Amino acid sequence: LEVLGVKQDLEGKHVMITAGPTVEPIDPVRYISNRSSGKTGYAIARAARRRGADVTLITGPVSIPAPSDVHVVHVNTALEMLQACEDAFPSADIALFSAAVADMRPAHAADHKLKKGAADADLGTITLVENPDILATLGAKKGPHQVVVGFAAETDNVIANAQAKLAKKNADVIVANRVGEGLAFGTDDNAVCFVDADEIDETPSMPKDKLADVILDHALEYLR
Ligand code: CTP
Ligand code: CA
Repeated sequence: LEVLGVKQDLEGKHVMITAGPTVEPIDPVRYISNRSSGKTGYAIARAARRRGADVTLITGPVSIPAPSDVHVVHVNTALEMLQACEDAFPSADIALFSAAVADMRPAHAADHKLKKGAADADLGTITLVENPDILATLGAKKGPHQVVVGFAAETDNVIANAQAKLAKKNADVIVANRVGEGLAFGTDDNAVCFVDADEIDETPSMPKDKLADVILDHALEYLR
């Protein structure tokens, strides 16, 4: 591949990526989730593999095909995603957390279909509990030779919110982007801002495949 002009600068590196949404069951037929398409994370997984890395892609349910020659771990819930990340993280050189993890899950998933209006199984009031923060959990365990890349999808105060997440989650850098009305989720193009402890670096809007390489270029700068 090197002769074909594809740099193999991730050869010998283990890159793990979380992608897609998580789905949190209410009962056997209903769930809480979000609009993540998984496109960004899958594009990063493809790009990292192309550049020679061993790739682990930990993904919630999405409708795009799994990249070839990549170790894919399919999960549904945030708790399952956390477990898969705990398994993969210790050997990861670079970990990128692009998944849109559901912030809350129903406190109890009913084992039977809840009926509307039934007094014993009220669909009108679903008690939620907070999911663990996967990035913060692994960020706290980051070793001196590991690079942790977080993501932040924001509708407003993009930079200030990204800076707060950088510190709280012990990431090396946060890839921040604006979401809402036709932006980011499910689209093919995206513009992001790299926010680290020292600087803010904004990219122009570009296809997610190109952006994936730019994100990996950036992550490599932190690798010691
Ligand atoms: N993240 C995670 N586990 C969670 C929530 C978020 O690993 N339970 C990660 C995301 O994958 C992303 C980063 O944390 O890399 C920021 O996610 P985001 O949803 O923007 O931030 P939150 O901390 O959940 O805050 P909020 O949704 O309130 O903005
Ligand atoms: Ca969130």
